[in-house]
Amino acid sequence: MKTFDLLMDVSDRMKQALDFHREQYDLMNFLSLSGYSAWHEFHLSEESSSKNKLKAFISTHTDYIVSDEPTKDVGLIKSLIGKKPRSEIGNRVEIIKSAWEAYRKWEYDSCKMYSEIAKQLSDIGDMPAYLYVNRIVDDVHGELTEIKNYIVTLENHSYDMPQIQSEQDTIAEKYIYRLRKLYKQYPKFHHFNSL
Ligand SMILES: [Fe+2]
Repeated sequence: MKTFDLLMDVSDRMKQALDFHREQYDLMNFLSLSGYSAWHEFHLSEESSSKNKLKAFISTHTDYIVSDEPTKDVGLIKSLIGKKPRSEIGNRVEIIKSAWEAYRKWEYDSCKMYSEIAKQLSDIGDMPAYLYVNRIVDDVHGELTEIKNYIVTLENHSYDMPQIQSEQDTIAEKYIYRLRKLYKQYPKFHHFNSL
């Protein structure tokens, strides 16, 4: 497989990851869990920026243009809520547990896939592309570690709803702070700073 196809596989998975975070964001808002929705809002923004940077890298590093096609439904909301109104969704703890497990699995599978692609890029001797994808692997690995650690805290209190609800403000604050920091990374230019 050539570099372009391998990088496009990463790009396609990252595109679907945005849909995954969007569905988690919508789900957590529906469950009134503002901390969890901020968690996914941050990743939606951060990964959208990473995805754009990858597309720019593909366009300059290979001979081909990146053409984004619409992604398939990731199916999280469909499987956990369907079309039911809030009054009929039943046990929220089970929904929250399933959502966290789906999130852990999503990032684990992504990490595995990107690592395999990085190895193939190394095997064909494209070191710039290998190093690029390896940085993405590091990012996903960091996210996966945060998820696993948080699932341990949830398991430690057996997904206690009052405890989950009481944590939301602190988690929201953490991710809104990270969101603000994310946009601060863009440099200030001479013009338009007062806008
Ligand atoms: Fe993610």
